[in-house]
Amino acid sequence: MPTPIQIGPLTLASPVLMAPMTGISDLPFRRLVARFGAGLIFSEMIASPQLLAETAKTRRQARFDAASRPWAVQLAGTEPAVLAEAARYVVDRGADLVDLNFGCPAKLVVGKAAGSALMRDEALAGRILEAVVQAVPVPVTLKMRLGWDDHSRNVATIARIAEEAGIRMLTVHGRTRCQLFKGAADWAAVAEVKAAVGLPVVVNGDITDAATAARALALSGADGVMVGRGACGRPWLLDRIRRALDGAGEPAEPTPDEMLAIVLEHHAAMLEHYGHDLGLRHARKHLAWYLAALPGGAGLARRVNQLDDAAAVVATLREIYATAAETEPALAA
Ligand SMILES: Cc1cc2nc3c(=O)[nH]c(=O)nc-3n(C[C@H](O)[C@H](O)[C@H](O)COP(=O)(O)O)c2cc1C
Repeated sequence: MPTPIQIGPLTLASPVLMAPMTGISDLPFRRLVARFGAGLIFSEMIASPQLLAETAKTRRQARFDAASRPWAVQLAGTEPAVLAEAARYVVDRGADLVDLNFGCPAKLVVGKAAGSALMRDEALAGRILEAVVQAVPVPVTLKMRLGWDDHSRNVATIARIAEEAGIRMLTVHGRTRCQLFKGAADWAAVAEVKAAVGLPVVVNGDITDAATAARALALSGADGVMVGRGACGRPWLLDRIRRALDGAGEPAEPTPDEMLAIVLEHHAAMLEHYGHDLGLRHARKHLAWYLAALPGGAGLARRVNQLDDAAAVVATLREIYATAAETEPALAA
């Protein structure tokens, strides 16, 4: 088990962190992951100009929740002054930590010179990091990729610039921007970052269980791991990984009855957060991920996700999991 990660005044209880994921890491999901135990849980990336314009979407994304602290808010943008203002905005509303996104590969984001495009402009990257660190009293962290492409893997250079600017923790997704999500995450490449700075470093990419977490830690020498897609439909995964890294043995996967309780809690929270119609739509991807653990999961997801009434969804989920409890009392991990 690595030594606890210290980020300014925050000591993380677990070295297993939940990744920021747009469209996934909303308040209902973060609350659920927090309940199962995670070192730190990041918000979805919030675009700074829209945050300051207080659009309905960003107001919802920046809703403070006392139940899932520390509240780590990830910001995206390209203007140092706007990002600094956005950081003040979320800290005024309770954020315990601000994370900056230098990793997003999406065309819409890099087209605005934000996300991973910032790794191509080290001078601007430095100005952003300094502006945000100086703007807020809470720790500022940075999430990035290995670089833009294989010819410009400058993550260690940016890491040094970040340390100089006062950044308190670095997360590195072991792919370049141009790789998008293709190929395998290069955990060993993160060792270069660990060697370059004295900051806590978190390794990210393709970590889906205790074995991949242990291997990523060993190859990178990182202080912690960050899990993204692996926790979709399995919000309890991070705690399982932590326990295994602790040597305590992985707990069993939830039974169908336990899983039903989690799915219903998540679904109800989505309806509350987004309202009935939008909540129902946003919940569908989560239901598909949960149901994938059951035999014939894809067909079950199609059945439940064509319903447009919450009460019908709940009744169908109860029926599905009751059948699973009879036929599959212990679901495969
Ligand atoms: C649907 C989706 C949305 C994502 N949104 C964000 C985001 O808002 N901010 C960010 O820094 N990374 C985002 N990522 C990247 C993840 O945080 C993570 O770096 C990546 O998925 C690799 O980790 P994994 O293999 O554990 O999923 C997103 C990834 C996915 C699949």
